[in-house]
Amino acid sequence: MRIASNKLQDLIDFYHAELFSVYEPGELNAVIKLVCQYYLGFSPAEVISRKNENLNQSDVLKIYDCCKELKKNIPLQYILGETNFYGLKFRVNTSVLIPRPETEELVELILNDIKKENETSLDILDIGTGSGCIPITLKHKLPEANVSAIDISQEALEVAQQNAILNQTTILFNKTDILKPEAEFSLDTYDAIVSNPPYIAKKEASQMHERVKNNEPAIALFVEDQDAAIFYKRIIDLCQKHLNPGGHLYFELNPLFASDVKQYAEKSGAFASVNLIDDLSGNTRFLKAEKHA
Ligand SMILES: C[S@@+](CC[C@H](N)C(=O)[O-])C[C@H]1O[C@@H](n2cnc3c(N)ncnc32)[C@H](O)[C@@H]1O
Repeated sequence: MRIASNKLQDLIDFYHAELFSVYEPGELNAVIKLVCQYYLGFSPAEVISRKNENLNQSDVLKIYDCCKELKKNIPLQYILGETNFYGLKFRVNTSVLIPRPETEELVELILNDIKKENETSLDILDIGTGSGCIPITLKHKLPEANVSAIDISQEALEVAQQNAILNQTTILFNKTDILKPEAEFSLDTYDAIVSNPPYIAKKEASQMHERVKNNEPAIALFVEDQDAAIFYKRIIDLCQKHLNPGGHLYFELNPLFASDVKQYAEKSGAFASVNLIDDLSGNTRFLKAEKHA
């Protein structure tokens, strides 16, 4: 199909015609708004009020090329090379997971707790940092905190470091495989440990959207079926030595094994309280535990 003219409305019609089998209608409207914001600088209201304007040829070409990539099921964030997380801009590429809205909720949970406690110079560690969205947002909101982050992937750490600079924050990044025994040597002690680790069992892959499965890094998504909670258990074990008395542990969880993780944390005896928390969609998505004082 060809684009009828350089009018924005014709481009929008073109997107609908080309992508109706790739996106749900609501999703497609959100994609179109983001494309117009990125390439044209239009707000969502302007996409409507300026739909009869003629666009210049170079913008039309960029938006056309973007559509070709979207049709191949490449996530929009990877095409644009950026995304928004908790009001901040983050660079993303295929080395890092695209930050999710649930993870914004996790950050919100932590920030609410810390505000309540009114503490300023906390030591915080993020395990499996990916794009760095969690530690960078925390540091941005809590400039007095000392924030560290680790990941197994050097490529991810490079993206995270760029994002720290982009958002004018200083984070101590370290390449560490948290599952290896020697990971202990690169850890300090912390007031808060947070992690959104890989948590999708390989057997769940068949139910996943192709766009996620074929583009986002497998190392960020999948765990072996026989020990799907491996990261949670390892991190809970590490809390014995590396979480300060009275410190907090925060996880983003796979709802399928949320209660197993809770039980494991309770059995460890390290925590005074262990709670599961739902996300906005009503799924059991987060764990918050407070270490004995
Ligand atoms: C689900 S992603 C989360 C990324 C980011 N924190 C977020 O919330 O968007 C999990 C991250 O854990 C990292 N990872 C996987 N295995 C790891 C390991 N053994 N040690 C440390 N990090 C690991 C991956 O590279 C990936 O960046």
